[in-house]
Amino acid sequence: MALITWTESQYGTKVGFADEEHQVLFGKLNKVYDLATGGADRLEIGRALDDLIAYVVNHFAHEEKEMQAKNYAGYVAHKVEHDALVGICADLQTKFHAGEADVTDAVGQMVKGWLDSHIPAFDMPYAGALNS
Ligand code: FEO
Repeated sequence: MALITWTESQYGTKVGFADEEHQVLFGKLNKVYDLATGGADRLEIGRALDDLIAYVVNHFAHEEKEMQAKNYAGYVAHKVEHDALVGICADLQTKFHAGEADVTDAVGQMVKGWLDSHIPAFDMPYAGALNS
């Protein structure tokens, strides 16, 4: 079962590129989660994890570029949030490839919880600025 399902009412930001990228990101997160909790080959999980993290990094960079282009007042606080998650992901990625950590149900729930909080609290408020 999918870990996270994008709906307009829960995750819609009213910013086209963000909604599109969030849906791709959710798909990649679900893939990692399904592989990891379904007992897939570790190499396959690692590939999907690398793909997800690369996508997250690019998505954050895209949002940050758009916020900066509009001189969005919430940029700095938003970037702090992004950097914190990238740090957690990079640490997990390093440990996973070193055989020191696994992608567990708890890891999936943590990322889902972060998105459940971040998108409404940080992404949705930039709509006015980014659509101006
Ligand atoms: Fe869509 Fe700020 O992450």
